[in-house]
Amino acid sequence: MIESIHGLHGVGFGGDYNPEQWDDDVRLADIDLMREARVSVVSLAIFGWASIEPREGSYDWSWLDTTMDRLHGAGVRVSLATATASPPPWLTRKHPEILPRTADGSVLSPGARQAYSVSSRTWRDYAVRMAVAVAERYRDHPALALWHVDNEIGCHVPHDYSDSAAEAFRSWLQRRYGDIDTLNAAWGTAFWSQRYGDFADVLPPRAAPSHSNPTQQLDFARYSSDELLSYYVELRDAIRPISPGVPITTNFMCTSATKWMDYRRWAAEVDIVANDHYSIAADADREIELALSADLTRGVAGGRPWLLMEHSSGAVNWQPRNRAKGPGEMMRNSLAHVARGSDAVMFFQWRASQAGAEKFHSALVPHAGRDSQMFRDAVDLGAAVTALAPLTGSEVQSRTALIWDYEAWWAVELDAHPSADVEYMDRMRALHAALWRRGITTDVVGSTDDLRGYDLVIAPTLYLVSDEGAANIAAAAERGATVAITYFSGIVDPDDHIRLGGYPGAFRDLLGVRVDEFFPLLDGEITTLDDGTSADLWSERVELAGAEPVRTFTDGPMAGRPAVTRRQVGSGAAWYVATRQDEAGTAALVDALIAESGVQPTLDAPAGVEAVRRVGEQGSFVVVINHTEEAVPIDLTGTELLTGAATEPGYKVEAGACAVIQEA
Ligand code: GAL
Repeated sequence: MIESIHGLHGVGFGGDYNPEQWDDDVRLADIDLMREARVSVVSLAIFGWASIEPREGSYDWSWLDTTMDRLHGAGVRVSLATATASPPPWLTRKHPEILPRTADGSVLSPGARQAYSVSSRTWRDYAVRMAVAVAERYRDHPALALWHVDNEIGCHVPHDYSDSAAEAFRSWLQRRYGDIDTLNAAWGTAFWSQRYGDFADVLPPRAAPSHSNPTQQLDFARYSSDELLSYYVELRDAIRPISPGVPITTNFMCTSATKWMDYRRWAAEVDIVANDHYSIAADADREIELALSADLTRGVAGGRPWLLMEHSSGAVNWQPRNRAKGPGEMMRNSLAHVARGSDAVMFFQWRASQAGAEKFHSALVPHAGRDSQMFRDAVDLGAAVTALAPLTGSEVQSRTALIWDYEAWWAVELDAHPSADVEYMDRMRALHAALWRRGITTDVVGSTDDLRGYDLVIAPTLYLVSDEGAANIAAAAERGATVAITYFSGIVDPDDHIRLGGYPGAFRDLLGVRVDEFFPLLDGEITTLDDGTSADLWSERVELAGAEPVRTFTDGPMAGRPAVTRRQVGSGAAWYVATRQDEAGTAALVDALIAESGVQPTLDAPAGVEAVRRVGEQGSFVVVINHTEEAVPIDLTGTELLTGAATEPGYKVEAGACAVIQEA
């Protein structure tokens, strides 16, 4: 097995380092400050191309050579980028055809970053050339620990509608369908005179007079994710033979906000999953969202440890109002990622830029310099991360699974649906949050993943599901798990064709219900359930066909009809939720699911105390994060790694503090 970061023992600590933005006296000071903060790994040269090759064919490696040598001297490992994350200005002037286009045909111009089309052969040739040049120069450098291909591929341009993209889309369709009649059948082109006679007639779903064909849109989403991934693979395969044995990755954005890259497919192509996560200031439940994103990242990584490649030390610069983190929050956020499987704590970025679009983005070394709260916190965090070495490589334990399929997300949010208000993340977040508040650690897995290790399986809004996925979920209930599925699930097959005979199509038999009509609620319309909780957004006419009603609507168009049902399935059960319950209703539902399935919280602790167990070769570790404003006693015996203190039942974790207990 390839080590996660070559030559790094313990949990990595560091961030993006952009020395090309600074004079040499600052770069020298950086090395001292990195030692002081115990930085062990940095990502280098991500946006380095224009500094390495300012004019075509004329290279200046001096700054990078010196930086690599100095970092090595300070014991810092380097995640070295291919320097391709943004083309240099000379390249886009010479080859404007590499620029991407939006759905309405606008060209995305250079001047920001990522102004390239991954479908442009010209761009790929130049990118490969640069990646190879970097790899050849540093293949034997002792600081080289990991290859970082490009950067957040697809971040700004998840979809490109250019002519080169159209060509690549057609080739992808040809590979998927073989012949045009198969495509016609899959896309349902008997509708609106859309039947194709030739692949040459097919276009990306560019701006159109009305709703574009939904399967065309869905396939374009699939193609776009695959096309971006193939760009990564091409660069990876170009550098692999030059430095065999050095692991290669690219930083994902496995978060509840990033929709368009199917990272489950991507994960198979990287040597270790690396992830970037940024909280949204306006999100009141941001620490729960962080947990969901980290749980997803772990799921994408197949349960194995992963690397937190970027997060922020404080405020970002790209939201309308950029909130600074409160006391202890950088530590809590960092350890929450570690709790959920990360073996690194890395940031964007090491030193705050003086110029450019990100000059107001926080960094470990802020504009104020060393004499700042931020840098003092960075030094404390570096010491804490260093103390976590024993848990490196350990794996998170969970008996609860939340089903997350990217294709279901893409499909459920297409246009021309019963309600534009159905959002994939809505129930995903609500149900995950209800579990989080009860201290239950949740794995986030795909519908066709192995569900045998789970006692509780929840599938929110799984609108699109394959026969295999539906059977896999049903089998979990048959084996004795408690399964819960929410409204607008099982509706279509992978071609986005309705599963006929009554909703919720693929799950009708499992759930023991049949629905013949949806009754979406209007904006602001509220309905009441028989336990006094309320619901909104969705209702439907549920007929029982083997299930028992658990909750019924007491008003609205569905008054007297089931809103929540349960069907006994062997020793397991299948629950259906036919409306959007409020927070109290969702909490009551989740409590019932927890009680029935027998899943246990990691610790017996009040809501707001996050605790996750990782188990590995060096033992069992519980990471505890106290998000509350009170000191909390915990019942764990062992050694607290951050302080070295022995712990006994009743050990107090202070308000806002973290503890990592190596269990005795
Ligand atoms: C990421 C990106 C970094 C930096 C950061 C700012 O998306 O990879 O380069 O821009 O956002 O939050």
